Amino acid sequence: MNENTQKLNLKREIGLVSAVSLIAGTMIGSGIFMSPQWVLYHIGSPGGSLVIWAACGLLAMLGSLSYAELGTVIKESGGEYIYILRTSGPLPAFLLAFTSMLVVRPASIAGIALSFAEYAVAPFYQGCPPPELVVKFVAAACILLLAIANCLNVRGSMSIQVFFMAAKLISLVVIIIGGVVMLINGHTSSFQNAFQGTIVGINPIGMAFYQGLWSYDGWNNLNYVTEELKRPEVNLPRAVMIAIPLVTVLYLLVNISYLAVMTPTELMSSSAVAVTWGNKVLGGWSWLMSVAAALSSFGSLNGTFFSGGRLCYVAAREGHMPDILSMAHVQRLTPSPALIFSTAISLLVLIPGNFKSIVNFFSFTAWFFYAITLSGLLYLKLKKRHLPESYEVPVVIPIIVIIAAVFLVLAPIIDDPGIEYLYVSLFILSGVMFYIPFIHFKLCPNFLTKATVFLQLFLEVAPTEKNTD
Ligand code: ARG
Repeated sequence: MNENTQKLNLKREIGLVSAVSLIAGTMIGSGIFMSPQWVLYHIGSPGGSLVIWAACGLLAMLGSLSYAELGTVIKESGGEYIYILRTSGPLPAFLLAFTSMLVVRPASIAGIALSFAEYAVAPFYQGCPPPELVVKFVAAACILLLAIANCLNVRGSMSIQVFFMAAKLISLVVIIIGGVVMLINGHTSSFQNAFQGTIVGINPIGMAFYQGLWSYDGWNNLNYVTEELKRPEVNLPRAVMIAIPLVTVLYLLVNISYLAVMTPTELMSSSAVAVTWGNKVLGGWSWLMSVAAALSSFGSLNGTFFSGGRLCYVAAREGHMPDILSMAHVQRLTPSPALIFSTAISLLVLIPGNFKSIVNFFSFTAWFFYAITLSGLLYLKLKKRHLPESYEVPVVIPIIVIIAAVFLVLAPIIDDPGIEYLYVSLFILSGVMFYIPFIHFKLCPNFLTKATVFLQLFLEVAPTEKNTD
């Protein structure tokens, strides 16, 4: 690396509105259009399903309040990665970066892109499922488009975020209004004996939570970009307190609307619940629902890209990933190498990827690392490492979230130990094989240094430094 290069900083460009859109706009994505029937299926009753949706919202709220404290104590970008690094040390942080960059992020990008594609092509294939190749092609195009937008400039990708956030808010409000009209017209049968048939068991509850929490995932998104946020100590907690309750209320009302329009059985047998809803309420205009669901996934994907690229970039900056990934474009100031890397892996995952299994693996792995991150917060709280201006939450909040996270990780294993969860755990551990030679012993293969110099010139990128102003 050239020591004389003037170091670059990513700018603080994110204000409160963008911050709220970055959280809410990522949270509201494919899930609310895909998971309601699965939550209902696992828990067995409309009442139970609404309780799960509310509980997921509460968990996201408590989690993000705890993260807001982490973000104001450790003011660096990088989300879980940087918090685990600063509290639990380099090995667990590396394992997180490794798993997240190679599997979790690309898988979620691929998953959301697939749901975008399913809904985007649905109006052209009425009455029959679209060919898989077409869906995957559209998904790949969507990934590439957003990758380019995110490489071009930060403000541009933030505008995309705000625009799509507005679009999906409108579509959710349309669903809610439709539901209210149906309720006023007496469609309340789903809510009579609402808890009848509730299935109480560790595995069903865990699985229902996995599906619900997928829709809420993204609650931690702002913590990936703390260094680009204006006045993080104020805006981080504020954005969380606006975005999460907003999303929770919307999700609950949308679910009530689905249940007002469909019977629980209809809901469970629908493959794309928003389209079924549209057919019943909007008649000839039902294609609007496909468009809305596609737009919603598109916006969420943009947010996922935005934060995913940041994680990769911060890990590289700390020496846990090749140097090139920590650099930013000299004029555009976007971390393009990290974004290009995420894109390439996401496209690979897209080839065999399937939406449903992605959600379960995502939740399992994500909550495993959320628990480790929050244990770090507990440690900081015990050590009282606080800055005067940092935001603090009562200690019971992270404790509740940790207990919930441990339950979520153990639930599927205890009740019904699937071999896939063993694979995921082994994959996480396999990171140790890379950690020992490359990070611990700092063995840097010669070709990597050469490749870095070449790519640096080719991509017009330069090293960046932490933004501490
Ligand atoms: N909640 C989003 C959805 O419903 C998925 C978010 C994926 N996770 C993330 N951190 N971006 O589609």
